[in-house]
Amino acid sequence: MLEKFERYPLTFGPTPIEKLDRLGKHLGGKVEIYAKREDCNSGLACGGNKLRKLEYIIPDAIAAHADTLVSIGGVQSNHTRIVAAVAAKIGMKCLLVQESWVPHEDAVYDRVGNILLSRIMGADVRFVDEGFDIGIRRSWEQALEDVRSKGGIPYAIPAGASAHKYGGLGYVGFAEEVRAQEQQLGFVFDYIVVCTVTGSTHAGMVVGFAKDGRQHSVIGIDASATPTKTKAQVLSIAQHTAKLVDLGREIIEDDVTLIEEYAHPCYGIPSDETKEALRLCARLEGMITDPVYEGKSMQGLIDLVRKGFFPEGSRVLYAHLGGTPAINGYSYTFRKG
Ligand SMILES: Cc1ncc(COP(=O)(O)O)c(C=O)c1O
Repeated sequence: MLEKFERYPLTFGPTPIEKLDRLGKHLGGKVEIYAKREDCNSGLACGGNKLRKLEYIIPDAIAAHADTLVSIGGVQSNHTRIVAAVAAKIGMKCLLVQESWVPHEDAVYDRVGNILLSRIMGADVRFVDEGFDIGIRRSWEQALEDVRSKGGIPYAIPAGASAHKYGGLGYVGFAEEVRAQEQQLGFVFDYIVVCTVTGSTHAGMVVGFAKDGRQHSVIGIDASATPTKTKAQVLSIAQHTAKLVDLGREIIEDDVTLIEEYAHPCYGIPSDETKEALRLCARLEGMITDPVYEGKSMQGLIDLVRKGFFPEGSRVLYAHLGGTPAINGYSYTFRKG
């Protein structure tokens, strides 16, 4: 589906699929749980889902003769950490707007994890005191203007690399990769569980799996706590991406499944249930999820299995999208494990 698009390789290649046997048994053994380890996809600054997206965006930045990648996220944004890594790798400068998206207090929150790595990689990190919003922000537009006014050529990468013309392509590629791995495994996954916030990971998967009519098997777990906005963004990115890849059919609202109930109390703050899911997964599988994103989708996966949402015998693929460095900003939350 992606042959006509230029791709700048930033990942190691296809990501491994690992069976989470002990978790599956612990939850009753009625469904098989697997994880696709997108968190292990690259040597660039701990990896994660943004790299698949950026593989299709970076050729456009190079073609535009840009010299500075400009992006935005929260203080502990995984996305901005990855933009900093890619800028270093391709020899560009990097300007990051870090907004106060999370009402979280930890003595070292703005000094460890993602932001620590971004600073080490040489990014110009700027704090702006604005709250959470997945839309286009004035602070980001100002940062772009700032680069221009100093004679630089900025390249704009929106939050999560989502609301970008090529933002959905990377996860179309994920679906194609899963299809090829299914051939080797000799079975097909019945469900794919994915954490959703800015939307292009989920949107790309919907388009990629729609090729063989499997879009309803993609189960998005909202971690934004602004699900109406997030779902609308998933739908619009999926519709745009479907046209771009000549899918040959329309994506409609019913094609997008977004489960809203695991994002509470708000973006970036884990509930007690999220913390329990994160611990359970760590203690049974040694697989680390974070309190902002993957802990919430893990909570959703566990709860949906317990509720019998997946019919007996289902094979469920959990997309582990990365994000582990942020857990360092929650040292007090997890001080007792
Ligand atoms: C670790 C992790 N999981 C999930 C997501 C959600 O992906 P998306 O923003 O494409 O919806 C993100 C980024 O926002 C992330 O960093």
